Amino acid sequence: MEVKQLMELAAQARTKAYTPYSGFQVGAALLGKDGVVHMGCNVENAAYSPTNCAERTALHRAIADGYAPRSFEAIAVIGDTDGPISPCGVCRQVLVELCDPDMPVYMTNLKGDVLKMTVSELLPGAFGPQDLK
Ligand code: THU
Repeated sequence: MEVKQLMELAAQARTKAYTPYSGFQVGAALLGKDGVVHMGCNVENAAYSPTNCAERTALHRAIADGYAPRSFEAIAVIGDTDGPISPCGVCRQVLVELCDPDMPVYMTNLKGDVLKMTVSELLPGAFGPQDLK
C-alpha cells in the first residue's frame, strides 16, 4: 500500500476522534503485513490521564482483534499540526513493545507534510520486551 493511501486512512480515522477537552483530533492507520489496516483515533476522558492516543488505539485494537505483535508493516499518524505530528512518549514505548524496531512510522499533518522515522529511532535505547527475558 502507498504511504499516501495509509495517510488518507489515518485522516478518515481522525474524524472519529472523541476530543471534548482538547479539541485536537488525531488519527492513525496501522498496516498489517497481511494488508489489513487497523484504524485508531484519540479518545479523551474527563479525568484526563485515561486519554488514549490514536496510535495506541490502533495498536491495541489490532492486538484485541487477534493480530500478533510485530505483524505490522507501517503506521501513519495525522493531526492538524504545523509540522509532522510527533507521537508522545507513551505511544513510542507501546510502538517498541508491539512493532519491529525498523518499522516505519509516517508522521504527517493535514497539509501533507511527511516525516518517516523507524520505531527504534523514535525511542533509542528503549526498555523493551527483550530486557525481561
Ligand atoms: N494525541 C494523539 O492521539 N497522538 C499524538 O501523537 C499526540 C497527541 C492526542 C492526545 C490528546 O487527546 C490530544 O492529542 C492532545 O494531546
